[in-house]
Amino acid sequence: MAGTITEKILSRHIVEGEAVAGQEVALKIDNTLTQDATGTMAYLQFEAIGIDRVKTQFSVSFVDHNTLQTDFRNADDHLYLQSVAKRYGLYFSRPGNGICHQVFLERFARPGNTLIGSDSHTPTAGGIGCFAMGAGGLDVACAMAGAPFRIKYPKIVGIKLTGRLNDWVSAKDVILEVLRRVDVKGNVGKVFEYFGEGVKTLSVPDRATITNMGTETGCTTSIFPSDEITREFLKAQGREEDWQLLVPDEDATYDEVIEINLSEIEPMVALPHSPGNVRRVREVGPIKVDQVAIGSCTNSSLRDLMMVAAILDGKTVAENLHLTISPGSRQVVEHLIADGGYASIVRAGARIMENACGACIGMGCAPRSEGVSVRTFNRNFEGRSGTKDAKVYLVSPETAAATAITGYLTDPRELGEAPKFELPKKFFVNDNMIIKPLPEEEAKKVEIVRGPNIRPLPSFEPLGDKLEGKALIKVGDNITTDHIMPAGAKILPLRSNIPEISKHVFEAVDPSFYEKARSYGGGFIIGGENYGQGSSREHAALAPKYLGVKAVVVKSFARIHLANLINFGIVPLTFKNPEDYDRISEGDDLEIAIGDLLGPCKLTNKTTGAVIELEHTLSKLDAEILKTGGKLPWIKKQF
Ligand code: F3S
Repeated sequence: MAGTITEKILSRHIVEGEAVAGQEVALKIDNTLTQDATGTMAYLQFEAIGIDRVKTQFSVSFVDHNTLQTDFRNADDHLYLQSVAKRYGLYFSRPGNGICHQVFLERFARPGNTLIGSDSHTPTAGGIGCFAMGAGGLDVACAMAGAPFRIKYPKIVGIKLTGRLNDWVSAKDVILEVLRRVDVKGNVGKVFEYFGEGVKTLSVPDRATITNMGTETGCTTSIFPSDEITREFLKAQGREEDWQLLVPDEDATYDEVIEINLSEIEPMVALPHSPGNVRRVREVGPIKVDQVAIGSCTNSSLRDLMMVAAILDGKTVAENLHLTISPGSRQVVEHLIADGGYASIVRAGARIMENACGACIGMGCAPRSEGVSVRTFNRNFEGRSGTKDAKVYLVSPETAAATAITGYLTDPRELGEAPKFELPKKFFVNDNMIIKPLPEEEAKKVEIVRGPNIRPLPSFEPLGDKLEGKALIKVGDNITTDHIMPAGAKILPLRSNIPEISKHVFEAVDPSFYEKARSYGGGFIIGGENYGQGSSREHAALAPKYLGVKAVVVKSFARIHLANLINFGIVPLTFKNPEDYDRISEGDDLEIAIGDLLGPCKLTNKTTGAVIELEHTLSKLDAEILKTGGKLPWIKKQF
């Protein structure tokens, strides 16, 4: 039977269920990845399951988020992660080695494999032909224990690429064009699979930029074929043996096709405060800029930074702004130094930051109050930069570098002739910052290091048939996990300490949320469309659960957050009639009859007397997990 790449990979990994769009399937997971901000919780959960060694082909633990060691807490977390990796048979990528997705692409990702990662930009590995999905830490813990990962079998959207990118236009502009067309909602349950002649004009790092930011569409994942270009990339990384040919059959069919002529794409920009708010740079016109930040897992590859270096060469950063550059990996830095790019960047006056997430999660590079920041990152949600009233514009490395020179948002085509760059035939390969798994018997003797920042997991009770409480908060559309559970240098070190981190739930939206939740003994969250978009952080479910949130009732959910709510025993419900959203006010007393959660539910607003019909997309298994009090108590019963 003819097949798309998605169908080919999934058919080799389905262990339960049928390949019918919308139906639940269980997938065997080959690889997992974690980063430190979500990893400590994932490994605490893995330990609680009680398995002796990871059961995946391989799993990797990265430290790239909370790298600032301003006190003992992050350092404690790093040591915990390193000792857990040693004890349970994982690879450990040490702080300083780079951003998880960049390093995974360089050193680990394999075409044809399935990967889940406790980071929403895990689809970056789709650039190499890996079926890679973001997931909550608990799902990653379960996959490490050998459990399959459940998804709704996706609708496959073929994105047909034709033509070739013009000078000054790059992969970031392609994904911004995709976002311009499909926006950030309405894509749950879809896979974006790229095909067509245009694919051959894009390198693996280009493709990875596209699949990385595909996350912002809300889709399950994005994927490219594994072809001769993929083979060349793997060969240059010294691991050609990991390559396999993976292309769609000639007569493969897609549920929907979107055509993009690469030759017609121009430099693009996502305006504040949504990655889907996309325009052509030339249409936006000059805006005075205070800061340019280049890097993140979207645009920190060697190709991107060498382009930036070539643009900055011999120039000086404009007086009215400052420029930061965060390389994606140590391999990228080594090449920048050897190839002269580093010197060009430093001479131009950029601040070179660590090879880590840094500025992307609001650490070390927050703009001034009401500042304008132009970034090559993938998200521009309000407050994510670290400055609540800053305006963040998302662009390509070329547009960012041009802007850094002129001081205002600039279409890079104004700079004249474009620099050229080709990937090396052989990258500098040195894995001395990756600690390999120990043999099983040796690993069993390893002691796990638990500093005072590593606090035990809270435990939760099973759910009854009826949920009661107050509407603790009522929020609008497109609430992100950053709104629910903020990140940033102050909060990130609390990721292994649920009682402490829960004090910050919704703090930017309603600073009294914590006190209200405590004094009412929990209750409900009411929301609009696309609730929980953004990062995969399970703390956005775990911390509200700790505060007694029993159900979230909204118009629609983002996929990963929906799964996280189920994992932590919070019932995710949607309004049958979206206009019923208006029949609940903050502070109302509510009662939701959930029964066995196999059918629709009824909400009674005891304050107004209104009766509201609710729906859900829970499977039988989801219902069982919720009723048991969440996935951890449920999975413990399975082993
Ligand atoms: Fe890190 Fe930002 Fe990517 S936090 S993993 S660089 S989205």
